[in-house]
Amino acid sequence: MICHALLLFFILVSVTVVGEGATVAFVPTDVFLINCGDNSATNDQNGRTWTPEEVKALPSNSDFASFTSDALYQDSGIAQVPYMKARIFRSNFTYSFLVSPGWKFLRLYFYPTRYGSGFDAASSFFLVNVNGITLLRNFSADLTAKASLPESKSLIKEFIVPVHQTLNLTFTPSRDSFAFVNGIEIVSMPDRFYSKGGFDEMITNVGSNGEFVIENSTALETVHRLNVGGRTVNDVDDSGMFRRWLSDDDLDNSGIIVNIPGVKINYTEKTPGYVAPEDVYATSRQMGNLQDPKLNLNFNLTFFLTVDAGFNYLVRLHFCETIPQVNNTNQRVFSIFVGYQMANRYVDVILMSGGPRNPMYLDFNVYVGFENGLRPDLRLDFHPMMDDGASYYETLLNGVEILKLNDSQGNLAGPNPNPQLPTDSTPNRVRPPKKKGNKSHLLTISLAVVGSAIVLAMFVVVIVFVMKRKKKRNDFSVHTTSKPSTNSSWGPLLHVTGSTNTRSATSLPSDLCRRFSISEIKSATNDFEEKLIVGVGGFGSVYKGRIDGGATIVAVKRLEITSNQGAKEFETELEMLSKLRHVHLVSLIGYCDDDNEMVLVYEYMPHG
Ligand SMILES: *[C@@H]1O[C@H](CO)[C@@H](O)[C@H](O)[C@H]1NC(C)=O
Ligand SMILES: *[C@@H]1O[C@H](CO)[C@@H](O)[C@H](O)[C@H]1NC(C)=O
Ligand SMILES: *[C@@H]1O[C@H](CO)[C@@H](O)[C@H](O)[C@H]1NC(C)=O
Ligand SMILES: *[C@@H]1O[C@H](CO)[C@@H](O)[C@H](O)[C@H]1NC(C)=O
Ligand SMILES: *[C@@H]1O[C@H](CO)[C@@H](O)[C@H](O)[C@H]1NC(C)=O
Ligand SMILES: *[C@@H]1O[C@H](CO)[C@@H](O)[C@H](O)[C@H]1NC(C)=O
Ligand SMILES: *[C@@H]1O[C@H](CO)[C@@H](O)[C@H](O)[C@H]1NC(C)=O
Ligand SMILES: *[C@@H]1O[C@H](CO)[C@@H](O)[C@H](O)[C@H]1NC(C)=O
Repeated sequence: MICHALLLFFILVSVTVVGEGATVAFVPTDVFLINCGDNSATNDQNGRTWTPEEVKALPSNSDFASFTSDALYQDSGIAQVPYMKARIFRSNFTYSFLVSPGWKFLRLYFYPTRYGSGFDAASSFFLVNVNGITLLRNFSADLTAKASLPESKSLIKEFIVPVHQTLNLTFTPSRDSFAFVNGIEIVSMPDRFYSKGGFDEMITNVGSNGEFVIENSTALETVHRLNVGGRTVNDVDDSGMFRRWLSDDDLDNSGIIVNIPGVKINYTEKTPGYVAPEDVYATSRQMGNLQDPKLNLNFNLTFFLTVDAGFNYLVRLHFCETIPQVNNTNQRVFSIFVGYQMANRYVDVILMSGGPRNPMYLDFNVYVGFENGLRPDLRLDFHPMMDDGASYYETLLNGVEILKLNDSQGNLAGPNPNPQLPTDSTPNRVRPPKKKGNKSHLLTISLAVVGSAIVLAMFVVVIVFVMKRKKKRNDFSVHTTSKPSTNSSWGPLLHVTGSTNTRSATSLPSDLCRRFSISEIKSATNDFEEKLIVGVGGFGSVYKGRIDGGATIVAVKRLEITSNQGAKEFETELEMLSKLRHVHLVSLIGYCDDDNEMVLVYEYMPHG
């Protein structure tokens, strides 16, 4: 057996965790950040330093096992570090890392594109394992990236692996294929952070009455980590573990967003500051139905999260009461269902966490079977309680993490996604009943309250009905009113200040029509180079351009803002064209509406 071991010796720097516990971010003992294929240390765009592979014990024939190569293209949004360089493996290849004992985050970075050496990641399939656990099998980074939501040309696979002392990471190319990787990150975490249970130190086993125990030989993969109702939190803005919390805008979730800017989260001993950053606890989704909260009894707040069938999942739910009106027990009380099963009948966040603005998190284990296909949706439902006289018929969710556990054979790998099948078409998805009104309307509601004696500040709650995919942070319209409210009930405090369909772009058929960023358009047309103009029409010029790293030639129609075809018409044309495209009449590929530009991208027809 030819197993090439590339030993990396790193001096372990022990850092003492500074006291205080409650609000301090975690300081990891081990941090490895390796830009595979590079030969000098480089900083990434967030200022983190990536080091080259430190080759101290390279087998004499390692040149046969692997080589390094540079990506041929840099798609917009792809960071130079670590994505533009890769190590490509011809045969089995093992990295060994010396780490402190315990579970580690292992993050693998992939940019599936074409490389200078002639390697094309589209034809690459491989297996990855760590200390006997299979993380990925017959893995295609290309198919996985193509199916990613939000759309991305690169991808990061995050695992949580148990290690004694050596973390042996092996890449094994499939037959007639090469394997590759762009970056490797290893970060330690607080002791048994994902295995000892939530803040109550227990993992509820959904579907039985018992507790679930995660043995110390089990590895996990992060499948979803969402900042519900909030923005994407980047690695450097996490509480010390460099996790990414994605915004849930791209998912088809129910509920309204509640965001109380500047709210101070009161971390506690049971939920210390490293559990999740303030951004996660400060925003949430709730049910709404402000005019008639009783209606909520007829509904659930529902989330659909796509997973692989045949595995157990650790579901970690984060909660925090931030609305000033909810400041006592027995006000907002609700039940949690995971995978259609009752998971916790009685959740009162104030009661459990000890007070308003105190965060908390609960852990559940659920097995997802094959009844609904290979990649079903795991459904989470939150339903208001009615039988204990709670004051508000409401629920909430601030954050969610879904982690896949390896099966009894030590396997974590699922099938490759099929990019032709958008997850929206999952057959078992039963959509939650829509709220009153058209979801495509941007309904901005503001709630202004003079807070409690302690807070003394005026809170502004901006609540927005959002369409999936299409909300930018600066789309929030903040309306404030300084009128203190004397009402003790919640509903009347909410003032509807606008319900106009200000941006009908939110109703664009995003499944049919690709959205380009202005930088993609500029790089496609060489910043609208005049030489590339192939026609001038009534509403603007048409450029010949290239997208997808040069692979696709397109015609780019840049509508002149001064032309009488306003934004409204732009959207109408777009909607019409993409519907037509659907029946294969017109070759619209996508559009761009960044930066006040109105740009349409068509398939290029050389002869008109
Ligand atoms: C490579 O690894 C695979 C899976 O671990 C193993 O089956 C195979 O024998 C190895 N091949 C070589 C050439 O070492
Ligand atoms: C990792 O690889 C090294 C070198 O091949 C070996 O000595 C060690 O036992 C391996 N450790 C584990 C946990 O597999
Ligand atoms: C796992 O737990 C068992 C029993 O609790 C213990 O004996 C063993 O050393 C632990 N292994 C690791 C890797 O921590
Ligand atoms: C709790 O909220 C109510 C309004 O729902 C308010 O009247 C009361 O003063 C608040 N109590 C405290 C202690 O903040
Ligand atoms: C809420 O979700 C649970 C579990 O999925 C389901 O049994 C129940 O019927 C739902 N309730 C409503 C009102 O939709
Ligand atoms: C934070 O929570 C703790 C525990 O519930 C409580 O004793 C303390 O008063 C709270 N602090 C603030 C500033 O709300
Ligand atoms: C995960 O794999 C390890 C090693 O094969 C095994 O000991 C453990 O029981 C597995 N975990 C689960 C939850 O099956
Ligand atoms: C590997 O994945 C590809 C793409 O999903 C699939 O077509 C192929 O059948 C898989 N091969 C094996 C051996 O599972």
